[in-house]
Amino acid sequence: MSSSVLVTRATFADIVGRLREHFDVEDNTDDAVLGPKELIRRLQGKQGVMSTGTERIDEQLLAACPELKAVCNVGVGYNNIDVAACTARGVVVTNTPDVLTETTADFGFALMMATARRITESERSLRRGEWTKTGIHDHFVGSDVHGATLGILGMGRIGQAIARRGAFGFGMRVIYHNRSPLPASVETDCRAAYVDKATLLKEADHLILVVPYSASSHHAIGEAELRQMKPGATLTNIARGGIVDDAALARALREGRIAAAGLDVFEGEPKIHPDLLSVPNIVLTPHIGSASVRTRRAMALLAADNLIAALGCGPRAGKPTTPVNAAVLAR
Ligand code: DGY
Repeated sequence: MSSSVLVTRATFADIVGRLREHFDVEDNTDDAVLGPKELIRRLQGKQGVMSTGTERIDEQLLAACPELKAVCNVGVGYNNIDVAACTARGVVVTNTPDVLTETTADFGFALMMATARRITESERSLRRGEWTKTGIHDHFVGSDVHGATLGILGMGRIGQAIARRGAFGFGMRVIYHNRSPLPASVETDCRAAYVDKATLLKEADHLILVVPYSASSHHAIGEAELRQMKPGATLTNIARGGIVDDAALARALREGRIAAAGLDVFEGEPKIHPDLLSVPNIVLTPHIGSASVRTRRAMALLAADNLIAALGCGPRAGKPTTPVNAAVLAR
């Protein structure tokens, strides 16, 4: 008897078709966001789920869905999943690293540039009909990206790809802070230097956050950290909501303690802290860091192939390409 799986959000029809070659598939073409109760209901009798960051896979869900064997997340981040609980129950967890690295780095750089050069703020003003004369010398003056100091918090694959863009494309000095320094060969490849967090905050002209969300990175940038940043600095967050204290950031922007911020992720998204909506010096985007067609397809395909392999089917049966808890596979 073939396994049954749930695809929690609407995705590419041919990729759902690929799953149907192996499984009974329940998909979600309406793209309704499934709350905890509905998710548990739909997972009854299912062995696998192709999930996204919207669904919380925790001990309560696992206890209520004892047949579940594989959780294959579409996304490199998996803070929506209690991996320890999955491991304890022998449930394989996979994510989708690598395929989104360059696309997300492109986006991070674009958001940082838009923030530094006040692109959306000036566009909003233009649309309001406020551009009434040309040649105003200080009209929406921003800060340079080329030649500036780029600070990166979290130097995984995406952080490194951003570092290369800054160093080689824009002649930036690149400094980073990470749990531990990278090997010297990687630092040379990215032309980036390790510094402690206080130095990162103090010296970065443009600070970009690419650190995974965890209890230890919660509010890694709060009131105290914002006060350590340069007055003209910008802050860009493409990592996860909750890494920045959004209320503290809105205060820092309103008081002009930093120049501007670019946010793609928010605490409690898709809700946005109202104070962020009323400060002018901010660029806001709806969590689209990996959103190019090619990359979103690659992510969905990798998640589907992981699910096929994790449930013992296809050419990689038993060996999904990108496991998060490989220990479960070894059992
Ligand atoms: C990721 O891959 O983690 C992106 O943030 C999409 O959720």
